[in-house]
Amino acid sequence: MTSTSSYSYLHKSPQDVLNDIDFQLTLEPALLTKLTKAFLEEINVGLGRYGEDMAMVPSFVTGVPDGSEVGTFLALDLGGTNLRVCEVVLNGDKTFRLRQQKYKVSDQLKTGEATVLFDYLADSVDAFLTTHPPESPTSPISDVPDVLPLGLTFSFPVEQTALGSGTILTWTKGFSAKNAIGNDVVKLLQDAFDRKHMHVKCVALVNDTVGALLSRAYTSGGCMLGAIFGTGTNGAYLEEVAKIPKLANNPAATKGGYMVVNTEWGAFNNKRTHLPSTPFDSALDRTSINPRFQAFEKFISGMYLGEITRHILLSLIDAAPRPMLFGGKATKVVNDQWGLDTSVMSEVEEAWEMRVTVDPTVAKDLDGVGNINEIGAEPRSFPGEIGENLLWDGDDHDILPRWDILSTPEGLASLNPKVKEKLERVRKVLVNRLEYADGDVELRDAAIVRWTCHLVARRAALLSGVAVAAILLQTGRATFIQDGQNGQTVPSTTEEPTSKKVNGANGTHDVNGLSKVTGTIKDGLEEKIGVGVDGSLIQFYPHFERTMRESLRSIVGSDAESRVEIGLAKDGSGVGAALCALQALKQGF
Ligand code: BGC
Repeated sequence: MTSTSSYSYLHKSPQDVLNDIDFQLTLEPALLTKLTKAFLEEINVGLGRYGEDMAMVPSFVTGVPDGSEVGTFLALDLGGTNLRVCEVVLNGDKTFRLRQQKYKVSDQLKTGEATVLFDYLADSVDAFLTTHPPESPTSPISDVPDVLPLGLTFSFPVEQTALGSGTILTWTKGFSAKNAIGNDVVKLLQDAFDRKHMHVKCVALVNDTVGALLSRAYTSGGCMLGAIFGTGTNGAYLEEVAKIPKLANNPAATKGGYMVVNTEWGAFNNKRTHLPSTPFDSALDRTSINPRFQAFEKFISGMYLGEITRHILLSLIDAAPRPMLFGGKATKVVNDQWGLDTSVMSEVEEAWEMRVTVDPTVAKDLDGVGNINEIGAEPRSFPGEIGENLLWDGDDHDILPRWDILSTPEGLASLNPKVKEKLERVRKVLVNRLEYADGDVELRDAAIVRWTCHLVARRAALLSGVAVAAILLQTGRATFIQDGQNGQTVPSTTEEPTSKKVNGANGTHDVNGLSKVTGTIKDGLEEKIGVGVDGSLIQFYPHFERTMRESLRSIVGSDAESRVEIGLAKDGSGVGAALCALQALKQGF
């Protein structure tokens, strides 16, 4: 599908057009705080009632692992671009072994009949078992020892009714398989296994965020939030059962303690009353598969950033009375809906920064994932503050392009050679990835595209910080910066206990084999805060974590931000599903 743009830039100078776009996509700290307050409200509305936009799904996982868990399980992971089948061996010493196979999920499968999709899932498990016969005996299901237990990671909104069942609420991320919504996802899968007479039993259902939380807790000994910043975005955290009023009639409520809640924060502010929507966001939403749903996710996640950027670029290509980009030429990549992948943005930014990062572990270090106290981002310059000679003096300021300098031979000649070199690298990426002829891309185009990518990604990372800050506030681990130093006061939505329970790091084992959250420390505002993350943006997009931390600092202050330990939830979906399967077996599935 192709799409056209309809933004009127008449009566504006090119510089004003750029200034306007910059203004629309720039988020000030006050707005971040306001959004966080709205986020907290939605969190509590969702904890109180079923059927709200932000679903706040109780996962029925009532503890976090501490690394001592053992067992061998099959795991199936559906949620993004690929489908994964794995065998996970939990060694009981915070380590695990994992063998996996990825299978492509075609658009046809994503949008066809649900039974066809679930048959494909079953076929994939079958193929995996043929090519990877179990190395170690899988943990037996007590009454049916020859049946293999499997944990399903299903990364879509599901109203979970127990550890091993849940109703699909809606599809996200480009999926729209028919006759699935309203059905129990575990039953859909089990029926597919049964149709093929496979000796596999799906015993547990888990969201990828819950998986991230559990797997990070397993490998690091403590974690309170699992978050995904990838194709989609979402977070799951440990909530006090007493603060989940909608569980009132459920036996889980009487037990008290803690439960992992899958927030489904991608649906925050679906009404768009607070989110800083631009015409580019509206264009994306209107033509998406799920208009008016997943509003927050559409500002943040990898599935959408490229598309927002594409809309901005198209508006400049089509600018009247004179095109402002690529001489008015558009390639198929920029014309086609979803044509511009978010990875192009990442490559553009890497080219600007001279970062060549192929190895994920290297990318991890460069991004500071896993590091605390990372030095903050450079302060952002505002359009009006840009001095003539400050234009790209060679550092990484996200400076708005100066049309006059970039449009004349003298202006270009006056650029710092280092900057020119960076722009030339970006230009090459554009020729290559956007499929332009070499002569169609100028240095000015490179500057504009790089700035656009930066604006869109920076906004995403700042908004991601809003979500993380809201969870810190909700759990009493931080306070709004404006409310006093280091959180001596708390937001009205949060009930602050005098002694705060922690991550499970000091927990004892409950009957389910997972650690009960029983440790207490003097003050929740002093502890380290474990956050397990996964997803391509947080792992690979230049400075995503750094900018997210900048956002956190502006909302809850640097003390709270520096206590946040962000670590990769390696293979979170597989390990999380295995841990849940273990819990299910212990509960006597
Ligand atoms: C889904 C979530 C999922 C997230 C990350 C969102 O689109 O609604 O359930 O956790 O993507 O994969």
